[in-house]
Amino acid sequence: MKINSRKLPNPGKKQFDGTRNMSGSMPIAGRGFLRHLGIQHPIIQAPMAGGATTPELVAAVSNAGGLGSLGAAYLTPDQIASDIRAIRALTGKPFNVNLFAGGYTPESRVDAGPMLELLAEIHHTHGLPAPTLPAWAPNLFDQQLDIILQARPAIFSFAFGIPDADAMARLKARGIATVGTATTVEEGRRLAAAGVTAIAAQGSKAGGHRGTLPGPLKLPWFPLSNWCELSRQPSPFRFSHPAA
Ligand SMILES: Cc1cc2nc3c(=O)[nH]c(=O)nc-3n(C[C@H](O)[C@H](O)[C@H](O)COP(=O)(O)O)c2cc1C
Repeated sequence: MKINSRKLPNPGKKQFDGTRNMSGSMPIAGRGFLRHLGIQHPIIQAPMAGGATTPELVAAVSNAGGLGSLGAAYLTPDQIASDIRAIRALTGKPFNVNLFAGGYTPESRVDAGPMLELLAEIHHTHGLPAPTLPAWAPNLFDQQLDIILQARPAIFSFAFGIPDADAMARLKARGIATVGTATTVEEGRRLAAAGVTAIAAQGSKAGGHRGTLPGPLKLPWFPLSNWCELSRQPSPFRFSHPAA
């Protein structure tokens, strides 16, 4: 994880140089970041949308001194509010709430007809009705984010995109630290320019799926996690937003 030291309102005496990653030995800068947030161990429980990250799991990880993370992307705003209440009933420690900040499309860009025909034949052999396309899920991001802004968890993390400047400013104004997911150095640069507090460098072996940002394939695709593992150099990022 790359740390944007200038995003921390009160970093204490240690300087946050943001030059090392979270794997291997934990740098002083990273430990300071964790201390600042009230997290004892450099362990972030992966946010997993779809139900795995129950309030009980999130609270258990936070109570054990790590950072519990609620994967809230598939939850309705009401469910997010209810899960955050449940987490707070189980722990007074900081926790993270995670959303997808991109990756939604309002309609299909490909013709699903040939695939439906193929699947219909298979369904037929099993005596099942022909498949139909499911309805497109609505993009609830704005309403989900409103709940998070009201609830003010210590950390808001996101994948698949970057919230717009207005959303980032509102998060900052509410004192919520932001962690964006990057799979490449270029994505890391974009997140830094957007003013995130820290960047989660997701490797090619990441379970489930990778939080790659939308964009043309001609962008430079040097993997950020490889850079973190190999590099002992200063951070490639220029965090352009001064601390609050
Ligand atoms: C089932 C599953 C669901 C996931 N859902 C999310 C998610 O909602 N948001 C997110 O940022 N990452 C999600 N991820 C990615 C993980 O948070 C994590 O970045 C990834 O698994 C890499 O960590 P690992 O190497 O420990 O698996 C998911 C991963 C899995 C396996």
